[in-house]
Amino acid sequence: MKILFATSEIYPLIKTGGLADVSGALPKALAQLGVDVRVITPRYASLNIADANPTEKVGALTVLGQPIDVAQTCLPDSDVPVYLIDHPVFSARQGNPYMGPDGNPWHDNPERFALFCRAVVSLATNPLDDGWVPDVIHCNDWQTGLIPALLSESPSPKTVFTIHNLAYQGVYDRNTFERLGLPWSLWKPEALEYWGNMSFLKGGVVFSDFITTVSPTYAEEIQTPAFGYGLDGLLSHKKDRVRGILNGIGDDWNPETDPFIHKNYSLDSLQDKVVNKTELQAALGLPVDGTIPLVVHIGRLVEQKGIDLLIQAIKELGDRRVQFAILGTGEKRFENALQSIAHKRPEQVAVHIGYDERLAHRLEAAADAFAMPSRFEPCGLNQLYSLRYGALPIVHRVGGLADTVKHVHPNSIEDHTATGIVIDYLDINAIKWALDYFISIYENKDIFTEIQKQGMSENHDWIVSAQAYGDIYAEILKG
Ligand code: ADP
Ligand code: GLC
Repeated sequence: MKILFATSEIYPLIKTGGLADVSGALPKALAQLGVDVRVITPRYASLNIADANPTEKVGALTVLGQPIDVAQTCLPDSDVPVYLIDHPVFSARQGNPYMGPDGNPWHDNPERFALFCRAVVSLATNPLDDGWVPDVIHCNDWQTGLIPALLSESPSPKTVFTIHNLAYQGVYDRNTFERLGLPWSLWKPEALEYWGNMSFLKGGVVFSDFITTVSPTYAEEIQTPAFGYGLDGLLSHKKDRVRGILNGIGDDWNPETDPFIHKNYSLDSLQDKVVNKTELQAALGLPVDGTIPLVVHIGRLVEQKGIDLLIQAIKELGDRRVQFAILGTGEKRFENALQSIAHKRPEQVAVHIGYDERLAHRLEAAADAFAMPSRFEPCGLNQLYSLRYGALPIVHRVGGLADTVKHVHPNSIEDHTATGIVIDYLDINAIKWALDYFISIYENKDIFTEIQKQGMSENHDWIVSAQAYGDIYAEILKG
């Protein structure tokens, strides 16, 4: 079985969010299962290519009359080949893969990702020198949505489309559709047309042989108007070919071996975790005291993550004996609000605005709880990392959060399944209640430790998810 995994970001080469973590881990797990998998991604200027995996040019393509080089590297710590689509729209721009230095999306993103999609299709249908042709292209998110659409007339390769977040669809106007030179047969509501515009993501939903998303609950939610962004009807129509597969935890997120954290620890040496807390408190300028509960948040500062509600709840919580450490980047209004609370309450709140992989690991290792009150969450990775690092997730019962966190309740404590705090109806009061509840649990050391250990002992190995993807590839290849 030959699989080409198409993605617009991949850790550790380039990352803006969870898609990169998935792309860096799932292909490796597939390879461990014996799947012949290769990855394809744009060659951005800021790719972090390790010396151990130099790139070499392996071919050239022509897309819409433009020459494109194909280079190859390897996914670090694996033999998984990674093709890099090399064109100046990617390789001549530093920084974030989707946004310019002003924080706005690159004006030609539709051209850039349409070019990427065409290059993937070209490479998948006209093999390079080694003759490798995929049986299935596994596409991810809107940036790859045109691949199934462009292949809609060909019997092979088959396509799987994974929705990591339906809120980002790649919607552009009709002029853009014309500029992209796409076949007119795709301009209709049964194809790419989306309320008078075009949607890249709709291409994946309409034309792929199988749709997956990153948790079973989100797979259900996107078939309802509340979460479906106008595609719920289409998704429920295709429900036999829509499946939710939970993301796993990559090898990089393991407190026993994590090179970024101050002191490694495990289930058996959980007492060492506190050293990470006191070290972080000192580094962030918070009062250093291992007995004060520390609540952490890491994420994109956007409404999806409920950061506005969390900010308000922290403001209203007053001077309780608790600390907050927040790392994020995103909308200016949230960055400013966070910095303002940290300025007013430096003994309680530390904020770091920016993107910092190392600090993210240190926060997980230091945390007693991780607040993730997302309005919707396709899967969510930080609550999984928090479980593994012994930090209680405080989450809203949606999407992957509902599927991965078991609420602390007398019954779940009794049967040893409790792992975190789950809010049923999300608002500021609910977050304040959840924070209070967490503080009271923290004060009961035996129960707190028991819940930490329960989360740490859960298995979220990528192999399990990879097996479920393997079943889907086999299913669609059988026809
Ligand atoms: P999403 O993909 O919606 O942003 P996920 O929970 O799936 O949310 O994944 C987010 C990933 O990005 C995690 O690995 C998280 O640690 C990382 N991350 C988010 N914001 C930052 C940041 N400011 N600095 C470092 N890592 C971050
Ligand atoms: C998206 C989602 C997040 C998910 C990630 C990886 O960014 O917002 O919930 O964990 O993709 O699948």
